[in-house]
Amino acid sequence: MQSTGPSGAAYAECAVVPLRQAPAGERPDGPPRYAPEWLRLREPVDAAARARELLDPLRGRLADLPGRADGLVVHDVGCGTGSMGRWLAPLLDGAQHWVLHDRDPYLLHFAAVAAPRTAADGSRVTIETRRGDLARLTPDALTGAVLVTASALLDVLTGEEVGRLAAACAAAGCPALLTLSVAGRVDLTPAHPLDAEITEAFNDHQRRTGMLGPDAVAAAADAFTGHGASVRLHPSPWRLGPDEAGLTAPWLRGWVGAAVEQRPELRTRADRYLDERLAACAAGELRVVVHHTDLLALCRPTGGDS
Ligand SMILES: C[S@@+](CC[C@H](N)C(=O)[O-])C[C@H]1O[C@@H](n2cnc3c(N)ncnc32)[C@H](O)[C@@H]1O
Repeated sequence: MQSTGPSGAAYAECAVVPLRQAPAGERPDGPPRYAPEWLRLREPVDAAARARELLDPLRGRLADLPGRADGLVVHDVGCGTGSMGRWLAPLLDGAQHWVLHDRDPYLLHFAAVAAPRTAADGSRVTIETRRGDLARLTPDALTGAVLVTASALLDVLTGEEVGRLAAACAAAGCPALLTLSVAGRVDLTPAHPLDAEITEAFNDHQRRTGMLGPDAVAAAADAFTGHGASVRLHPSPWRLGPDEAGLTAPWLRGWVGAAVEQRPELRTRADRYLDERLAACAAGELRVVVHHTDLLALCRPTGGDS
């Protein structure tokens, strides 16, 4: 399970994720929950960050597919409230059916009510939701898929889960567009002597519960190439300036909070650091680049009847 900080925040991927109260009947120490408010806050910044450079090779692969005229079946894993579909569906031509997977039924509800409706060429987009844990993903779950997508997911998975995802995509013979995995690097302007130590402690915090954190993209690239896929990577950094202060402030709190949780000896210096950073953010004087990487894996087609 992912750790939960003393302030009630669970730290995941590159940012603070305010932890919702566990619903009645659920263990409070279950897997981390992602607040829809947090996902809503990051959605426009995520949309600006995802690497459109990977879309042409993806479109090329999709154009060659037999049966494409019947519409594209896309599986978005770890969909949260569905931001990947809202971004990508209108960038692809043709009718699409999105299958949205998540283990959190609360987020799936949000995904269902804010589903994309129209493709780039005006064709219809439909969706369905599926609750389930990727730890139990089987190749059968992707039957009929022509594309698998994910966003801000890989770094919160274990190596085993990433391996399972790659194996399932390879068995289905479908490409995978896996966006916005943290790269473990953050650039803050102006610089501060504590930046590097906080970054390192945050990265260690991500890894400590077995999640891949900043090692996720390399692990996924290895897993997909091991199945014979060709893999392309492209940077997809968040660029946070004064206009994004509403995201930067909670991100800073979570980032520093996780670092302190990992290395309690940082607390006094980190508290001061956070106060300074939040003041600069509020004054419009802070710029942050949070580095991410997008990955496109073109798996060997299996013959069109996967
Ligand atoms: C950081 S959020 C990203 C959500 C969404 N893709 C987006 O970009 O806004 C990670 C999502 O992955 C889901 N998730 C994490 N691990 C999972 C697992 N093992 N099985 C299924 N869903 C998982 C979480 O519930 C959450 O919705």
